[in-house]
Amino acid sequence: MEIDLPDVVTYLQDATDQEGMQRLFDQHQIKQFDLILSDMAPDTTSNANLDALKSIDLIERVMRIVDAYLMPAGQFVFKVFM
Ligand SMILES: C[S@@+](CC[C@H](N)C(=O)[O-])C[C@H]1O[C@@H](n2cnc3c(N)ncnc32)[C@H](O)[C@@H]1O
Repeated sequence: MEIDLPDVVTYLQDATDQEGMQRLFDQHQIKQFDLILSDMAPDTTSNANLDALKSIDLIERVMRIVDAYLMPAGQFVFKVFM
């Protein structure tokens, strides 16, 4: 399905690749976000403990971006996959 949103730009990037994330922000001169929204969830395995750890890792990645890039009074929402 294609949705025409003229003011929306999308990039694909592995959030666990910290250097890749930094490069993406630098290349596109992204300094701040007013909203950070994450619906990331790990690919599940048959091991619930491993899935929970992978989910926590993704949340920590998002929190790093929030700490570094969320503007004052900005908002963030993320999914906690359990
Ligand atoms: C529940 S789906 C979200 C679907 C999305 N909201 C949509 O409507 O298409 C979880 C998403 O997390 C993404 N994801 C998982 N690990 C990721 C990572 N390390 N970096 C970026 N995205 C990741 C997956 O690619 C998947 O698209």
